[in-house]
Amino acid sequence: MRKKIIAGNWKMNKTVGEALALVEELKPLMAEVNSVDVVICPAYTALYAVNEALSGTNIALGAQEAFWKESGAYTSQISLPMLADVGVTYVILGHSETRGRFGVPDTELTPDLMRTFGESDAGVNIKTQATLAAGLMPVICVGETLSEKHRNETDDVIRVQVLGALAGVSTKQVVQIVFAYEPVWAIGTGETCAPEEADRVCGVVRHAVLEAHGQEAADAVRIQYGGSMKPDNAAELLSRPNIDGGLIGGASLKAKDFAAIIAAAG
Ligand code: PGA
Repeated sequence: MRKKIIAGNWKMNKTVGEALALVEELKPLMAEVNSVDVVICPAYTALYAVNEALSGTNIALGAQEAFWKESGAYTSQISLPMLADVGVTYVILGHSETRGRFGVPDTELTPDLMRTFGESDAGVNIKTQATLAAGLMPVICVGETLSEKHRNETDDVIRVQVLGALAGVSTKQVVQIVFAYEPVWAIGTGETCAPEEADRVCGVVRHAVLEAHGQEAADAVRIQYGGSMKPDNAAELLSRPNIDGGLIGGASLKAKDFAAIIAAAG
């Protein structure tokens, strides 16, 4: 039996004060939760303070990105040892927003500005290896865009992204990885993938793990669904055999909604 894992991706929201206020709201709601792994991923600026506030709780801390080098002349980047130092145990990698594949076209994001968000499968791979080597757990996001979906390329896109992320990763390490299937067109749009389709594509992720690392690894690895998961659709998604949790954006910013999704998983 795979333990379900619900992670809140706070994205670029919450000052330190706001983050701490949300943590205080979450604490009593999570106090009895043991059957589900709960993770929150605040912005870098709030990690240190949130980690202190989480002390003695069953809520784990995640970061939204990381750089693969340990230290050095890499202006603006944050290393894995730095993240471990402030209590981080999970690291989101390859989110569609860092890959630059925004679900909602933003007229401000001209091609020039989009270059800021150019994560590639090779980048996800080197960061996955570094995250595992640092003893942290990667949460690797994969997903197709709307045009890829319309061209019936979903399964190929997912397979390439999963195998790309796993290059050079050992079978022993692979069970430390959490995958998140996040159809790009469903992120922050209010559009959810139909539960049967979400489950089917999580199965495609699992099959790619099987292809690279065999049945035991495929059976053990946890695969989340992400993209407009909310209290009213969580139970249906989380009851599917291949969906082992959720990566929650918008709904993780409201304590009651996040708690309701966790209750649906438990
Ligand atoms: P959403 O975001 O729940 O707001 O759609 C999910 C994600 O980007 O991880």
